[in-house]
Formats: sequence, structure tokens, C-alpha cells
Amino acid sequence: MPSLDDVTRPDGGRPPRILFGGDYNPEQWPEETWPEDVRLMKEAGVNSVTLGVFSWARIEPRPGAREFGWLDRLMDLMHENGIGVVLATPTSSPPPWMGRLHPETLPRDANGLTEWWGSRQHFSHSSPVYRRYAAALTEDLAARYGSHPALTMWHINNEYCTYDWGDEAARTFRTWLQRRYATLDALNTAWGAAFWSQGYASWDEILPPRHAHYMKNPTHVLDFKRYTSDMLLECYRAERDIVRRHTPHIPVTTNFMPFWTGQDAWAWAPEEDLVSVDIYPDPKDPHGGQYNAMIGDMTRSQAGGGPWMVMEQAAGPVNWRGVNHPKPYGLNRLWSLQSVAHGADGLCYFQWRQSRQGAEKFHSGMVGHAGQQGRVFREVKEIGHELSLLGAEVAGRRVTADVAVLHDWNSWWAGEQDGRLSALVDYTEIVRAWHRALWEAHTTTDFAHPAHDLSAYRLVVVPHLYLLDDTAIENLLGYVRAGGTLVCGFLTGVADEDDRVRPGGIDPRLRELLGIATLHEWWPLDADERADCGDFHGTHWSEELTPAPGAETVASYKGGELDGLPAVLRNGRAWYVSTLPEPTALRTLLTRIAHEAGVRPVLDGLPDGVEAVRRGELLFLLNHQREEATVRIPGRHRDLLTGVVVEGSLRLGRYGVAVLGEPS
Ligand code: GLA
Repeated sequence: MPSLDDVTRPDGGRPPRILFGGDYNPEQWPEETWPEDVRLMKEAGVNSVTLGVFSWARIEPRPGAREFGWLDRLMDLMHENGIGVVLATPTSSPPPWMGRLHPETLPRDANGLTEWWGSRQHFSHSSPVYRRYAAALTEDLAARYGSHPALTMWHINNEYCTYDWGDEAARTFRTWLQRRYATLDALNTAWGAAFWSQGYASWDEILPPRHAHYMKNPTHVLDFKRYTSDMLLECYRAERDIVRRHTPHIPVTTNFMPFWTGQDAWAWAPEEDLVSVDIYPDPKDPHGGQYNAMIGDMTRSQAGGGPWMVMEQAAGPVNWRGVNHPKPYGLNRLWSLQSVAHGADGLCYFQWRQSRQGAEKFHSGMVGHAGQQGRVFREVKEIGHELSLLGAEVAGRRVTADVAVLHDWNSWWAGEQDGRLSALVDYTEIVRAWHRALWEAHTTTDFAHPAHDLSAYRLVVVPHLYLLDDTAIENLLGYVRAGGTLVCGFLTGVADEDDRVRPGGIDPRLRELLGIATLHEWWPLDADERADCGDFHGTHWSEELTPAPGAETVASYKGGELDGLPAVLRNGRAWYVSTLPEPTALRTLLTRIAHEAGVRPVLDGLPDGVEAVRRGELLFLLNHQREEATVRIPGRHRDLLTGVVVEGSLRLGRYGVAVLGEPS
């Protein structure tokens, strides 16, 4: 199987490198701009551009037409200038003629409203007509450019994310359900359809969970989410198989949205030759660096621990938040090198040149409206230069972790539905809080699926897996039995794979493992409410539970209805935290548990706000603050970015980064 290594570390020939560049949409510009683009790309050290992401209407202006001339010229231009091309199948934004001639290709929302053309991603994953046109275009693209020397990688579609509640989807949803359940009896049982008279007597009665009078059946909604992820994956696979047939040696990817609810990335990632992601932390978020780290950890884990790629990031502001902030000087570099520290061997942007028209004209580009004189482009050039210094030493090296955070889309989907006890419990927020605690404790962290082999980890953390199937439960039990340390946050193991509440409110096997005798009630907390737990406060949630004999109450609730009951419970190597401790407390708790489990921080004595990550033998030090920081380091090292040999300690300036290798 080809991989990212084939692009960054090809056999013989070129030295290893990190891919650097971005989405290039030259069809938006007069052709006279192209030579200027290439000149600036070379100045910036760009070695990779992604072409064609939104080019469908340009290539196929009428059904069946093919206008490849402009793309031929671009592919040649890139090759002549030593820039590799990540070629996209432009199937995420069909041309207007498709919707006009084939309205059934347009998706509908839960209220039956059509998503018309005029924006993007307006395709029904279930439409055979859409799929036929997409396949034909992919076929021709692969035939035409498969042997072009500029081609380095295929980029299928773009950020697959379209839901469809329309009639095309109703048809494929039924087929999907028939494959899952075989009989209506099985479906009715799984969905608990006896409730509210929902029993289905015929497959034709089943619809996507459309607008309804009141709360919808949660298992119906859960299955719809599973189905949507699977249908989009089918679309991806169809195009992937076409390009693979033409070019079995060229790696294939599709760019994930990070931590995006619509796509079970654990199921998708093995279908790719390399995993890529689009990362857009908010420059104003004081914890943006931690978010960037978390997405890096998650994507690396989806890539099986191997190198991965930032397919898109922003050189400055995005334009889809309420208020869109630029990146202050140094932040683009810091977060870029941080992604490299977390295992990225490709660092690309949306987009090369900032658009002057269209919906994203206020979204930054590598070359902004200020052009080559702009501060943003100057920084881009610096980053390109530094990546060229790092490439040979860094590419292909792996990051290893002793800790895994468990995350599963099924649990997220099931847990976020209507009808639960607290709408304030937000899955991503909880996962982020636990990852942040580990990150601030200078611990390197992987992500894993609850059914993955966990034996390589000293510590496994479950922030909030409301739904756990039997395989996952047995896996966790086996992990602790084999000597692992497990920490579970509140609302873990409540439901089975059909979203049926387990007897007793937590799976009985898990209850025994965690040392819980009885879970009496859940006590969610209001937004401004804090649960006094003695040394710290809990937020979001609290629980009325009785510990089993032998379990140790490490922290208990003080006052109120839960007075004296465990907030943190320990049963040997299994821990249960029935609230969300405030950030410092969660960090302290996890530091203690990690220490007992034999997990060490990357470096001792690191100041707050400085992150350390080891990638192979290299040590990345990243200062996430505007203030200078001094870091004590063991032994003598050479900073690969400056060439300077450092010993004993090191000063990092505002947003400063050092990459330490062997002295010579
Ligand atoms: C996504 C898309 C890009 C662009 C950016 C803007 O990542 O893939 O086409 O719209 O968002 O941030």
C-alpha cells in the first residue's frame, strides 16, 4: 500500500521532506497570475499544492463535457517548477446543471427543505445520478493525470459532511437497516419501538428521522448517524477504488474535519492510505494550542501512530466564526511546528491566494490581500524555510504515548440526543477538558477506540463514553486485569449499542470493576452550580452512588443531598470520577494517577505554558505564551532551527519553538 512516506521519503532520489503548501484555486484568477503564483511559491518553499477541489463546473461545464486544457497547463507548470500536486476529485460541489437537470441529486434537510445549488456540498450521497457523474469524472481525471509526473497524492472530495433526509436517502436507509437487522422484529426490538406506538409493520414505513411533533426515537436517530457516515464512506470508496485502479502506487486521502460529528473517523481512516485533517483553532482561544495538540493526537492515532498531514489550516483569520481574529505574529509558526511535533509530515493551508470574490474573500490565504509585502506571507516564507531545515531529520519519525484517551462516535451520537438529563453536557467539551488536563501535565497522549488493543498503554482515560458495547466493556475489563490503569469520567457505560440503558444505570461488569455498589440517581449541575468536593469543585454533573466494599472514596461531596458520597472512587487500578473536576483539580488528579501508573511527563520541571513533545529522538519545545520562558534541558543538544548548540537550559521567546537533536 502506498503511504505518506512515499511522498515525503521516496526511495532513492530526494531527501526526506515535509510537505508544505495549500489548496490552490487558480481557476479563480486570470492565467497571467499563475507565473507570479509559482514564483512566490518557490520563494516560500512550497512543494505541494492541492488542485481541483472545487473545479467540477470548470471541467464539466455541460453534462459529459471535459475541459482539461487549463488543468493540463497547470499540472505541467507545477511539474516544471518542482511542485507536487495533490489532485482532488472535485465531487463535493456539483455544477448547477446537475441540480437543474436532476433535482433528486439535491439533499433535503429534516424539514424537507431542499439544499439548492449556489453554495457547495449540495449532493445527496444516495443519489445514483450524482454517483454516476462523480464516478465518470473521477475515471477521466485518473486516466488523464494518473501518469503525470506532478501527481503525488489523490484527495477525494472535500470534507465529507452532507446529511440527507430526502427520498433518495429514505431508500438507502432502509437497505442499510435491512443489512443491520435482517428482520423488522429485530429492528423494532433494537429501537424499543413499543414506546409511543412506533412499531414498524413494513420497511416502507421507515423514514429518515424527519421533522416530528416531539422528541424522536433515539435509536432511530443513532442509526441514521451511523448510516450517514457509512453512506458518505461508500461515496469515498467508490472514487478511491477508481483512482486506485489507475494508480495503485499513489496514496489516497480525504480531508477530515477535526472532531466532526458526521463521520466516524475510526471507520474511515483504515480506508485511506494516509490520514489528513483540516485544523482551525481560534486564535483568540486561550486554549487554542491545546486544541491543536488534541487534533494532532487524534489524527495521529487514526493514522495508527504514523505520520499524518494537515491538509488545511489558516494563515490568518477564517471567516465562519461570529468574529474572526487574525493570528498574531508567531502564532501561525507555533501551531504549524506544533502539528509537526505531534507527527504531521505535511502542513498545508486553505488556501494559497486569498480570493477577491466569493463567500471566502475574507478568509485568509498564504498570500493575503496585502500580497507579498504582507506580514502573513513573510511568516509563511519563514515557516517554509524552517520546514525545509527540519524535513530530513523529522519526516517519518513517530510519536509514542503511554496514555490513551478513549473516544467513540457512536457514544457521542447516542449521548447528544434530546431527552437526556442535561443539555449542558457537551461531548467535545468533556473530552477536551480531560485532554487538556493531560496536556497541561506535559503528558503525551494518544486517542483510541474503546475496542482497540490498549495493552501498549499504562493509563487509559475515558472522559465520557455513555454508550459502550459488550466488546468494549470486555476490552476495558481485560485491560485492567492485565495490569492497566483505567479512569472513567461520569456517565460511562450507561447504554448498550442500541442505546438501551444497562441494568442498574451502569453496566454491571463496569460497576464491579469501578467499585460502585449502587448508582441511585444522577444529579446534573446547572451552568453556574459547583459541587463542593472538599479540595476542589465539580462542574456539569454529580452522582448519588454507594461504593462497594473495598473501594476507596478518594474525594467526597460536601454538603447538600450527596454529602459524604464519593465524587472520586478508586477500586485498585480502576478509578471513577462522578463529576467534572475544575481544570486544575482534574490536572492534579490525573497527574497523581498517571504517576502511580508509571507515566512520566515528557520533561520534568517544565514551566506552565511550555509544551514538550518527543518525535523519535527529537525533542520539540513550544512556548504557548507571549512571555519568554526558560526551560531546563538534560544534556547538550543542537537546535535544528538555529543550528545553535544548547546545554543546561534554553530560553524560548514569545511563541518560541526549539527542535532539539543530537549536538553534532
Ligand atoms: C474547509 C474547506 C475549505 C474552506 C475552509 C475555510 O476546511 O475544506 O474549502 O472552506 O474550510 O476555513
